[in-house]
Amino acid sequence: MSSETVPSAVANLDAHRFRRACARFATGVAIVTILDGDGAPHGMTVNSFTSVSLHPPLFLVCIDHRASIYPNFRKGRSLAINVLRAEQRDLSVRFARPGASRFHLTDWKAGVTGAPLLPGVLATLEGKISHTVEAGDHLIVLAEALNVTAGTGHPLAYFESKYHTLGGLP
Ligand SMILES: Cc1cc2nc3c(=O)[nH]c(=O)nc-3n(C[C@H](O)[C@H](O)[C@H](O)COP(=O)(O)O)c2cc1C
Repeated sequence: MSSETVPSAVANLDAHRFRRACARFATGVAIVTILDGDGAPHGMTVNSFTSVSLHPPLFLVCIDHRASIYPNFRKGRSLAINVLRAEQRDLSVRFARPGASRFHLTDWKAGVTGAPLLPGVLATLEGKISHTVEAGDHLIVLAEALNVTAGTGHPLAYFESKYHTLGGLP
């Protein structure tokens, strides 16, 4: 394909088609958590979590500018990724619903960085925010992992905008 044919294809690419293609990439589901300036916990369902580097151990998560949790990532220093189990679909739904009571109904404890950790999850990654990068309508938050836990079990998966389980419920 010549370079001249590319711009018209790009111009025709609408958000719906982009979303549909991205939705073909199966992911796990996690809840990203962070404290606000008053020490109150905030959390949001995400599937943009990605490991980035082993040395140093870095990971990232992308936060929509419109998300109510977004301002906390501009000021916060620590965050946690809580990787959900297949049985935790309700938690994912609750932490993705606008205006829902999230931590009122959910136990949590502070991790070594102070970031909120949820009980019974498949894995946790606590990190110190090292960089934030503005990227379109999202903020890319890069963090250095300081403490992690990894359990056993089946993950909650997300594919074509629906929840799935891998290998069935245990
Ligand atoms: C499976 C799943 C994955 C999501 N991943 C992300 C994500 O990576 N980043 C993001 O900003 N929003 C993501 N969302 C959307 C947010 O969870 C949702 O918009 C947010 O919780 C709305 O909260 P608010 O009303 O407090 O802003 C995802 C939603 C679901 C159901």
